[in-house]
Amino acid sequence: MGSTALAGHRVVLGVGGGIAAYKSVELLRLLTGAGAEVECVLTEAACRFVAPLTFTALSGRAARTELFGSDDPIPHTRLGQWADLIVIAPATADLMARLAVGLADDLLTNTVLASRAPVLVAAAMHTEMWERPTTGRNVARLREDGVTVLDPESGPLAGGDVGRGRMAEPAVIMSACRGLLSRSGSLAGTSLLVTAGGTREPIDPVRYVGNRSSGRMGHAIAAIAAARGADVTLVTASPLPAGPGVARIQVETAAEMADATLTRFDDIDAVVMSAAIADFRPVDPAGTKLKKESGPPLITLEPTVDVLAEMGRRKRAQVLVGFAAETTDVAANGSAKVRAKNLDLLVANLVGVEDSGFGAETNRAYLCYPGDRVEDLGLLGKDELAGLICDRLADALTGSR
Ligand code: CTP
Repeated sequence: MGSTALAGHRVVLGVGGGIAAYKSVELLRLLTGAGAEVECVLTEAACRFVAPLTFTALSGRAARTELFGSDDPIPHTRLGQWADLIVIAPATADLMARLAVGLADDLLTNTVLASRAPVLVAAAMHTEMWERPTTGRNVARLREDGVTVLDPESGPLAGGDVGRGRMAEPAVIMSACRGLLSRSGSLAGTSLLVTAGGTREPIDPVRYVGNRSSGRMGHAIAAIAAARGADVTLVTASPLPAGPGVARIQVETAAEMADATLTRFDDIDAVVMSAAIADFRPVDPAGTKLKKESGPPLITLEPTVDVLAEMGRRKRAQVLVGFAAETTDVAANGSAKVRAKNLDLLVANLVGVEDSGFGAETNRAYLCYPGDRVEDLGLLGKDELAGLICDRLADALTGSR
């Protein structure tokens, strides 16, 4: 399973004609591995170093090389308008010069001119070329125009030379891509609290009362929201990794979940409560392990705090998104919870069937809004659903501002 950090992001990867073009293959793998949709545009010179077919195969979309002659009548504007980010790696001195003066003499330079997306350029060339005042002027001009230019690094260059000129490593370019996408993302400037996983309520130091939630949905939402610019705190009872840029707080019990979330509630813009928080917990868990010889224990349960309902009571301008796992009457039960907990949105999932719910790759979900409005999403992959929830969250935040 790939990461979802860039799911839903559309990236044009431009490749210039330098030996570092082979590294852009690795960059493409990192981008698609993080869930981005990538269209590749190679300059004529790039095709002398790497084959367009490599980029087609790895992106799953035909790599483009020509301004004219493709079956797309207007690729020069369509790609630029489509992109959330244009990343050019490697960018040669010649390509940067053309970008700096606004030439549009091939598909890649046309795409940049016809786009409002942020542009990231990873320079790569020989040391002499990089140090040439003309190159310095072009880099300065690109930066003035808002282009992010990653300077080349020092090290061995083509032909046995050593010096400044190597393209930044793909992982470095990738993290710059993440930064740019998050700053321009639909959740930029939002502070978001996400909860995930199933809580465990101790019976004794060894045993607990738990549930089947894996935390996968909450972790996917946290990662996607962070990639779209939100400042995300993930309060989780799951062992799954947190996405890049997500601040993680590990908890185990419903009480810890309540404490970690309610103390932060006043300072945040939105909450996504995807955690399966226990509704009941054992009264007075044993301090030492219960022994078999003492016979079957009688475990008395007491209610936990309903965190989301409490947030619904305290809410001022915060957007509240809840989750519900239902086995029957999903939409009707979901709408009732929206009313009862004063929510802006509730994601009601069908559970107890093979293709939806705990542990499944897909979910049958309904989005329930105030006023009994229900959106039937049908069967969706969990990452796709997480992206859609982030879309609706951005809409709700726009409405509440
Ligand atoms: N929730 C919560 N605190 C709890 C229990 C649940 O904040 N102690 C949150 C969950 O994170 C979820 C929502 O409430 O977002 C719905 O939880 P659910 O257990 O389905 O709803 P209940 O109101 O407990 O109803 P029931 O279990 O009877 O279906």
